[in-house]
Amino acid sequence: MATNRTFTMIKPDAFEAGNTGAILKMIENAGFKIMAMKATQLTPQLAGKFYEVHKERPFYADLCGYMSSGPIVAVILEKDNAVEDFRTLIGATNPANAADGTIRKIFAKSIEANAVHGSDSDENAALEGNFFFSQAERVS
Ligand code: CMP
Repeated sequence: MATNRTFTMIKPDAFEAGNTGAILKMIENAGFKIMAMKATQLTPQLAGKFYEVHKERPFYADLCGYMSSGPIVAVILEKDNAVEDFRTLIGATNPANAADGTIRKIFAKSIEANAVHGSDSDENAALEGNFFFSQAERVS
């Protein structure tokens, strides 16, 4: 079944480079609506919790350090077929493999500093959105 919500983070590299606005513009131009948004900075512990699914991966410690190294912007997005369409818009995890015109192709610096996160399933989109936003902080 097609879903209508996904979750994204503008990562520290894109925030620091001043690309938040340009990335949000691409997201809105692709038909997504912003249903919740905030700038914040994760602690290493919170980054570890958010990325717990990757805790056995060799890059986990670096990822947690990186994701807590500076501000991020957390966003809940709505659109028909949101999870899949957003993953198409952002492109492959490794920007070297990302298609032309995708957010990661344009803005990402490396596989770790890859500009944006995008949920990989409906279930994770809901979990990740709830990680950052209470019911009162998002359009329900
Ligand atoms: P993201 O979509 O946020 O989900 C997990 C993140 O781990 C991923 O983007 C990358 O930024 C990061 N990462 C770092 N190294 C790797 C790797 N070798 N393979 C996959 N993801 C990696």
